[in-house]
Amino acid sequence: MNREQLFELVFKVLEGRNVNLRVMEKEDLPLFAEWVNKPEFFGEYNPLRQTSKPEIEKDYDKSTLEQTGFIIEKKDGSKIGYICHFTLVHPVGRPLEIGYSLVPNERGKGYGTEAVEIIVDYLFLSKSIMRVQACTDTRNLASQKALEKTGFKKEGTMRKYLFSRGELRDAYLYSILREEWKQPKILTKTA
Ligand SMILES: CC(C)(COP(=O)(O)OP(=O)(O)OC[C@H]1O[C@@H](n2cnc3c(N)ncnc32)[C@H](O)[C@@H]1OP(=O)(O)O)[C@@H](O)C(=O)NCCC(=O)NCCS
Repeated sequence: MNREQLFELVFKVLEGRNVNLRVMEKEDLPLFAEWVNKPEFFGEYNPLRQTSKPEIEKDYDKSTLEQTGFIIEKKDGSKIGYICHFTLVHPVGRPLEIGYSLVPNERGKGYGTEAVEIIVDYLFLSKSIMRVQACTDTRNLASQKALEKTGFKKEGTMRKYLFSRGELRDAYLYSILREEWKQPKILTKTA
């Protein structure tokens, strides 16, 4: 499936109350490259790495319905971050995980929680999956709260899981099951 077909299949815009999620398009890549190469974009706790523009374009071309990135936009169209879902390589099953980040001056305003709520609605509405998972550094309270407010439960600690700023850090694994999600918080229709 190429990008255009993917774009047609996924909602063009997943509409929330204060933010929308819009499937990332080629025009977003320069801004995305700028974001992901700035340490402050990933906050204090995430592993840092530099990603070249060709690498970003290659990843973008590999997007599928299984692995999609969305730009988080405010209602005035300003782009304030990204959220994505992807499947992990695992010998048994295909765990579906989400990742997200906001630009520093838009944090702490509820947008992160709303973006997580929207993507969880979208994933349970559009896929026959039983769970969505996320992992976060044990010190990352904002991320943990956003997950907990969406209904995620902490499953446990993955010890020395993330390599960040020269050391191995513990991370919490969180998940939300379909039966815990029950019904959409924000989205009410599927593509
Ligand atoms: C994690 C992140 C996406 C959360 O989004 P956000 O919009 O900042 O969070 P929200 O405003 O929705 O807040 C969620 C909760 O966390 C709390 N919170 C926000 N920032 C916090 C902080 N620095 N420390 C402790 N709690 C914090 C909020 O008060 C809110 O809880 P409340 O409703 O009980 O008051 C955002 O902070 C971010 O992009 N951080 C840097 C990148 C990152 O860490 N990504 C996640 C990797 S797992």
